[in-house]
Amino acid sequence: MQMRLEHIEQVVTIEQEVYTSPWSKNAFLQEIIDNRLASYFVALLAGTVYGYAGLWIILDEAHITNLAVRPDCRRQGVGGALLEKLLMEADCKGAAKVTLEVKRSNRLAQNLYRKYGFVRRGVRPGYYSNEDALIMWLDSIPSGLHAVYKARLKEGK
Ligand SMILES: CC(C)(COP(=O)(O)OP(=O)(O)OC[C@H]1O[C@@H](n2cnc3c(N)ncnc32)[C@H](O)[C@@H]1OP(=O)(O)O)[C@@H](O)C(=O)NCCC(=O)NCCS
Repeated sequence: MQMRLEHIEQVVTIEQEVYTSPWSKNAFLQEIIDNRLASYFVALLAGTVYGYAGLWIILDEAHITNLAVRPDCRRQGVGGALLEKLLMEADCKGAAKVTLEVKRSNRLAQNLYRKYGFVRRGVRPGYYSNEDALIMWLDSIPSGLHAVYKARLKEGK
């Protein structure tokens, strides 16, 4: 579901656990209150946030800004489900292509993005304080995603 103010504390706790340069509470607040180009989502069960993700949509391009899953809830499909939600949002809002940056060493996130069709198109040297970013692109959003998502909701997954 859409990230709301009441989710921010939990989101920031995960962010601090996961990243060495975490976004602040204010950064998330600005994104969901002020940034009209941004959409943020949480994976939520009984009020607990298990992961979150966001993107900016600028004309026909979407830029994924953030995607993280609580370390104790990984490898259960949460990251994939969040990425699917972002891709559907991008599609609904008219984006044709999707891009993101990922640390060169972050092989498991690269695996996730590749699984959904992203390919590596470039490098931003030193984009992270001590590391290069790989630039990945998805040229066309898979057309079957909406149907898969609806079927999952029906099954309660
Ligand atoms: C990347 C991340 C979001 C994946 O979340 P997740 O819930 O574990 O992912 P899923 O269970 O949906 O896995 C989806 C795919 O990701 C890849 N993947 C996830 N964890 C992996 C691992 N430990 N080793 C190898 N591939 C992995 C696989 O391709 C997997 O598909 P498969 O299960 O068919 O093999 C999570 O590891 C995370 O939060 N990492 C820290 C934050 C981060 O790096 N975010 C990306 C910033 S660009």
